[in-house]
Amino acid sequence: MNDNPVGIFDSGIGGISVLSECRKILPHENFIYLADFSHAPYGNKSAEEILSLALNCTEALIKNGAKAVVAACNTATSVAAETLRQTLGVPLIGLEPAIKPLYGQCKEKESVLLCTVATSRQKKFGNLLKEYGDMDLTVMPQENLAEYIEQNIGDGEALKNITEEIFRGKEHIGGIVLGCTHYVFLKPYIKKFFRDSGNGDVKIFDGTFGAAKHLKYVLEQNDLSSGRSSGGTVEFITT
Ligand code: DGL
Repeated sequence: MNDNPVGIFDSGIGGISVLSECRKILPHENFIYLADFSHAPYGNKSAEEILSLALNCTEALIKNGAKAVVAACNTATSVAAETLRQTLGVPLIGLEPAIKPLYGQCKEKESVLLCTVATSRQKKFGNLLKEYGDMDLTVMPQENLAEYIEQNIGDGEALKNITEEIFRGKEHIGGIVLGCTHYVFLKPYIKKFFRDSGNGDVKIFDGTFGAAKHLKYVLEQNDLSSGRSSGGTVEFITT
């Protein structure tokens, strides 16, 4: 048993989509969420910069008592997860593009994967793609989408318009992987776009639920689950 908080970080608000899944599955845990606003977005930065930012975030969370850390950021995970696992001293849970569930359900169909430019350049990501190389999957790296979502999060019209821009011409596809935690906020607009295009069956995958489930497993395996019976709290910190 351990009543310390679980640390979660992202470049900004994207990881809140992960936090929200974690809270559903682990309602008794306390969380501390770090949004690295001063250095966002991560997606167009070099691997060296992303690694150093991810190290700073995890160190800050551990200083604040984190018993485990969730890198609620596909970009930081693809660049830094291995190094962080070797150096942290607490368990690290990462976010990976949900290609496996896509493969399970949409193998025979044409699909697309959206991620940041930095994620698309990583070897870890290339290896993941190779594992599922026999499906028709197009990777669409997005240069400024995370930043755009960050700036327009309350503006439904803006999010609807950007969704249309991305998916126009792709109305026939069978599956979509949202390989960046920010993009999860487009889900309702993507669903509507495809429903209105007559393709309401399109399947949308992201790694948020998988990461939350994995966090639960890791806490249990390491005897780190909270012994609290009351609801957990969330503390937000920013840079
Ligand atoms: N939300 C992050 C991800 O999942 C990073 C987005 C960014 O800062 O570019 O990749």
